[in-house]
Amino acid sequence: MAADILGNVVYKKRPLDGEFDAASGHSGLRALAGNDRSLVRAILGAALRHRGEISIILDRLLDRGIPEKTGRVLDILHVAIAQMLYLDIPDRAAVSLAVEHAGADRRARPYKGLVNGVLRRLGREREDVTADIDADTVNTPDWLMESWLAAYGAETAREIARAHQTEAALDLTVKSDPQGWAERLGGQIVGAGSVRLTRKGPVEAIEGFEDGEWWVQDAAAALPVHLLGDLRGVKAADLCAAPGGKTAQLAAAGAEVTAVDISKGRLKRLTENMARLGLTVRTIASDLRNFAPDEPFDAVLLDAPCGATGTIRRHPDLPWTKQAYDIEKLSEIQSDLLDRTVGWVKPGGVIVYCTCSLEPEEGEAQAAAFAERRAGQVRLEPIEASEVGGLGHLITETGYLRCLPCHEAGAGTDLKGMDGFFAARFRRL
Ligand SMILES: C[S@@+](CC[C@H](N)C(=O)[O-])C[C@H]1O[C@@H](n2cnc3c(N)ncnc32)[C@H](O)[C@@H]1O
Repeated sequence: MAADILGNVVYKKRPLDGEFDAASGHSGLRALAGNDRSLVRAILGAALRHRGEISIILDRLLDRGIPEKTGRVLDILHVAIAQMLYLDIPDRAAVSLAVEHAGADRRARPYKGLVNGVLRRLGREREDVTADIDADTVNTPDWLMESWLAAYGAETAREIARAHQTEAALDLTVKSDPQGWAERLGGQIVGAGSVRLTRKGPVEAIEGFEDGEWWVQDAAAALPVHLLGDLRGVKAADLCAAPGGKTAQLAAAGAEVTAVDISKGRLKRLTENMARLGLTVRTIASDLRNFAPDEPFDAVLLDAPCGATGTIRRHPDLPWTKQAYDIEKLSEIQSDLLDRTVGWVKPGGVIVYCTCSLEPEEGEAQAAAFAERRAGQVRLEPIEASEVGGLGHLITETGYLRCLPCHEAGAGTDLKGMDGFFAARFRRL
C-alpha cells in the first residue's frame, strides 16, 4: 500500500493527505485497521522526508540503475529502505515484505532477486552505504533549495531543510487562558499564546476537545490574526478562510466574521469546526474573483492560496508534488486577490496578507509590489515584536512577519520549530 501511494504522490503528484481522505482517498486504505493505516503513513513520512538520501543509497547499491518498465520496483525499494533505516522495523521483515511484493507484481516479478540482493546488501553494509551523505541538503529538490539559498543564505537554507527532517509538534490555539491550558495539558506557551504539546495520539482524546475549548493550529499560523489589533465588534472578512483556523481566532476575539472560500467542501469543514467551538460566523462560498461585499469591512485578512512550502514538516510530500511553475501561477493569483482587497476595506481599515510559504515570490516580493502598485491607496504598517509574543527574530527590517521552520517558537527557550509563514499589514488610506 505504501509503495502504491508513494508512486501516486511522486509520479501522479497526488497530495498525501488526499490519499488518506476517508471518502476520496486510496481505496485500499479503507480496508485497513487504524494502526495499519498509521504504519502506512509513518512509512510514507520516512520515505518522503528521506527521499534524497534513499535515492543516493540506491545509486550506490545498484551498479546499473533500474531498467525502465519494471513496475513498482523502485517504489518497493524506497519503501523498504525507509523501513530499514528510519523506522523501528527489523530488516528481515522489511526485506521479506519487499521481496513478496515484487513477486506479486507482474512487471516487478523478474526483479525479485535484485530486490532481495540489494536490500540484504544494505543490511550488511549499512554503515558504508550510508556514509558521507549530506542529509541536510539532499532531501530537498534543487529548485527549492536554490530558492531558499537565494532568499535566506546558505546557513539558514540548510537549517530550513534540516527542520523538515522531523515532524512538527502539536500546537493548539485556546479560546482563553493559554497559561491555564498549558498547565492542565502539560504543554508550553509558544508564539503569541499558543499551547505546544509533545504528546502523540488522536487529538479528539485530549481534554477540552469535546467542549470546543481549543483547535489545532501551528504557532506561526496563529500570528497573522494578532496583527489586526483589537477585534471586539470589528466587521472582519476572512478571505480564503477554510478550514477556519483563523476564522475561529477572529470570532473568538469578538469580531463579526464573514468567511469566504471557493471550496464548498472545505467550507463545510469550517462550519463543522465552528459548531464544535460554539462560534458563530457568516460563510460565503465564492471565488474571490467574483466576490462583491454589500459594504466594506473594517478589517480584511487574506490567507491566500500558495505553494505551502512553509508546511513541509507536516506535508513531506510537498517538495515532490510542487514545482517552480506552481509558485509562479499562484503568485499571479495572489497579486490579483490582494489588489481586490483594497476595494473591500473602509478607509482607515486594515488589510493583512499572509501565506504559509517560504518563497519570497509569495511573501516579501508580493507585499512590496502591492505597496508600490497601490501607493496612493494603502500604506505598509510595520509589525512590532510585541504583537507576536515578543518574538523579535520573526520581524524583518521592513516590518514584515517572516517565520521559518527552523525558528525558535518561544522567547528565550529551546522550543524550536514553527511553520514557515509570511505576513504583511497595510492600512487603507
Ligand atoms: C491557505 S488555505 C486557507 C487556510 C485558512 N485561512 C485557515 O487558517 O484555516 C487557502 C484557501 O484558499 C481557498 N481559495 C483558493 N483560491 C480561492 C479563490 N480564488 N477564492 C476564494 N478562495 C480561494 C482554498 O479553497 C483554501 O481553502
